[in-house]
Amino acid sequence: MTLSLSRRGFIATTAALSAAPRLARAASPAQANAGAGAVNPLVKQRADAQIFRHDDGYYYMTGSVPEYDRLVLRRSRTLAGLATAEEVVLWRHQASGPMSGFLWAPELHNIDGRWIMYFAAGPSGGGEDVFRIRTYAVACDGADPMTGTWSVLGQFQTPWDSFNLDSTVFVHRGVRYVAWAQREPGIETNSNLYLAPLATPLTLGARPTRLTVPTLDWEIRGFKVAEAPAVLERNGRLFMTYSASATDARYCLGLLTAPADADIMDPDVWVKSPEPVFVTNRETGVYGPGHNSFTVDEQGRDILVYHGRDYEAISGDPLFDPNRHTRIQRLYYKPDGTPDFGIPVGNGPLPERLSPSGDAGSFLFHDERGLQCGAAPSLPATQFRMLPVGDGTETVRLAPITRPDLRIVANADGAVALAADDGSPAFARRSQFLRVKDDGTERFIAVAVPGKALAVKGNRILLAPRGSKASGWRID
Ligand code: AHR
Repeated sequence: MTLSLSRRGFIATTAALSAAPRLARAASPAQANAGAGAVNPLVKQRADAQIFRHDDGYYYMTGSVPEYDRLVLRRSRTLAGLATAEEVVLWRHQASGPMSGFLWAPELHNIDGRWIMYFAAGPSGGGEDVFRIRTYAVACDGADPMTGTWSVLGQFQTPWDSFNLDSTVFVHRGVRYVAWAQREPGIETNSNLYLAPLATPLTLGARPTRLTVPTLDWEIRGFKVAEAPAVLERNGRLFMTYSASATDARYCLGLLTAPADADIMDPDVWVKSPEPVFVTNRETGVYGPGHNSFTVDEQGRDILVYHGRDYEAISGDPLFDPNRHTRIQRLYYKPDGTPDFGIPVGNGPLPERLSPSGDAGSFLFHDERGLQCGAAPSLPATQFRMLPVGDGTETVRLAPITRPDLRIVANADGAVALAADDGSPAFARRSQFLRVKDDGTERFIAVAVPGKALAVKGNRILLAPRGSKASGWRID
């Protein structure tokens, strides 16, 4: 089936839907062997991913598939396990009618004990009509969403019969709200964000509030878009991320913030960040990061879930490039309690931060002068990927995420530096550290300098006796 279409500008472009590539189903070997640690990309070719940890102890994950023809779900006891978890098909688009075309951005919610999956859908048939996208829901007949029978609940009712998608549901101060993206008659954008209390799973309990219209330059690159809202309440505030611009490398996250105790239906209580909070990063090689959700890791620490490609150049309509992979990373916070999204961390094991034991405000970081320890200039400067050597031990090599070509190396004279791998066996040995965990303290023992470990003295990084206080680190 070849269609002349573009859902964004409603302008005819050409995309061969029938060429929509097959799914890459198997996890990569690295993922399969990731063990306890998750590896990015977590799940290939799953865009718009929603991951949440339910009170049954499972992580549930859904997302858009490249063919946009079915609603899928997987679950795992661990975040890393989602990479290889069985994926079941809950529901497929219909043979004809308003839900026989694209299925986009599903979200699973348990509402009053019933599993409901919201999604955007359009008719098939070709031409512009395939972008008559509206929001629907299917419901499960049983307690287990992986094995129950799913059937159509109906269409989500909004004040306008227009392009709408990316609905998300959350409870705030005992009220269940829905936030979604919609094209509003009279406003020349592809989509704006709206918020309203839910009266029933498909009907609003009040006229919606318009939260934001894409007007800033980073919101209107390619197309004027505010979509994919996701909500997180932390530190006395509600943070609502959203995605903006075209779905290529210009796609990015914006942020609306409201006091948690405010009337969130008052549009004036929501403050928009003037700049995007999460964008393409060429150093780490992640392009068009967006359509996020939030979850927590096994230790209860906030995790940002999003999709992003490994490459910038896309041929044809980005909507039909299948490689928006699901990615996750820690979400940290600034001293004022607002989220620090940092940068997309790139492929490989999730990076970590090293803080000297007993000095919580200091972090190992790197800058143009090399390795230091103290008050870091930025979050990305403190994030180091610990690459398993793969010899069956806890021996790792440490690489800054913004300089994946560099490694921390130990020298016989006790100095420690950042250096590019010259491929020599000597360099390989000098860049290896045996990671030893000891009751909340971690030590990185230099393989090439027995008895010595990574340590800090003042703001300097050097080697010190492996049992010394200076060689104790807290990993965050
Ligand atoms: O992935 C399909 C659609 O493209 C999603 O609903 C939207 O968030 C994205 O831009």
